[in-house]
Amino acid sequence: MFSYRHSFHAGNHADVIKHLGQMLLIAKLKEKDKGFVYMDTHSGAGLYDLHSDNAQKTGEFKLGIDKLMDYQGSNNDVANYVELISRYHRHNSYPGSPEIARTLMREQDKLVLMEWHNQEIDNLRHNISGSNIAIHHRDGFEGLLAMTPPPLPRGLVLIDPSYEVAEEYQQVAQTVAKAYKRWSTAIFAIWYPLIAHRQDSENGHSYAQSKMGKSEGLLAALKQQNFKNLLQIELCVTTKEQGAGMYGSGLAVINAPWQFDERMRAALTELQPLLAQSSDTSSSVSWLIAE
Ligand SMILES: C[S@@+](CC[C@H](N)C(=O)[O-])C[C@H]1O[C@@H](n2cnc3c(N)ncnc32)[C@H](O)[C@@H]1O
Repeated sequence: MFSYRHSFHAGNHADVIKHLGQMLLIAKLKEKDKGFVYMDTHSGAGLYDLHSDNAQKTGEFKLGIDKLMDYQGSNNDVANYVELISRYHRHNSYPGSPEIARTLMREQDKLVLMEWHNQEIDNLRHNISGSNIAIHHRDGFEGLLAMTPPPLPRGLVLIDPSYEVAEEYQQVAQTVAKAYKRWSTAIFAIWYPLIAHRQDSENGHSYAQSKMGKSEGLLAALKQQNFKNLLQIELCVTTKEQGAGMYGSGLAVINAPWQFDERMRAALTELQPLLAQSSDTSSSVSWLIAE
C-alpha cells in the first residue's frame, strides 16, 4: 500500500478523460451563481513536473497530453481543456485535479482536498493554497463520509483512488453508496482503470491478474444502487488483447447533469484517434441507470 505516485502517470490518456470530465462537470455547476463544494477524496500532489525523473521514466504524458497540444479541431470542450492545460504545459508541468478545480473555482465555491500519503500531502500543500480551500491529511473514504453532507447542497465529488489493493474497488462502491444516502444532490465522478493481463517475463507472475475484472465488479455494484442516474464513460487507447497493463479507463458519474453525456461523446470522438496506441481503439458513453 502507498507505493503509488501520480508523478509517474500525470498527463497520460487516463488523466485526459478524467480531467476533461472534471472540467465539464465544474462548468455545469458554474451555470448557476450559487456556490458549490468540490471534494477530491484522492488528491495527489496537485501539480506535476513533466521533466521530473518519475515523469520521464514512464514517458506516459508523451502518449497523452503531448498528443493534444496542437489540437486544431472544432470541439469547444476539447479546445478549452487543451487551452487550460497548455498554460502549464508551456512550463513543462501538468495540473492535477486539485489545481484544475482551484483554477476554475469562483469566490462562492469551496474546495475540500484529501490526501493520505505523507509526502504527497506536503507536495499538495506546497502546490495548492487559497481562500476557500481546505486540505486534509486523511483517508479520503473516511473523510468523504465524515464531511457529507456539506453546508452547500450543490457539489462534485471526484473519487480517484490508486487501486493499489484489490479491495479498494468494493470500498469505492460501498463508500459512494453511503455518501449518496447523505448527499443525494451531489455529482459523484468515480475514475476506474481498464486493465489487461500482463505476463511478467522475469518471474512468470501474472502482473495484473489480481485487478482484472475489478472495475467491472465496481460498475456492477454501483448499478445495483438506488441512484437516479449513472453514466459510464470509457476510452480505450488499444484493445484488451493488445494492451499491456492499462489499456483504457473510465468515469462512472452519478447524477450526471443534462447534456454531459452528449458533450463527452462528442469530445471522445475527437480524442480517440489522437490518443490511439494501436489501430484498434474504442470509446463509449452509456447510461447504466437512466432516470
Ligand atoms: C490517482 S492519484 C490522484 C490523482 C489526482 N486525483 C489527479 O487527478 O490529479 C491517487 C492518490 O490517492 C492517494 N491515496 C491512496 N489511498 C488514499 C486514501 N485512502 N485516502 C486518500 N488518498 C489516498 C495516493 O497517495 C495518490 O496520491
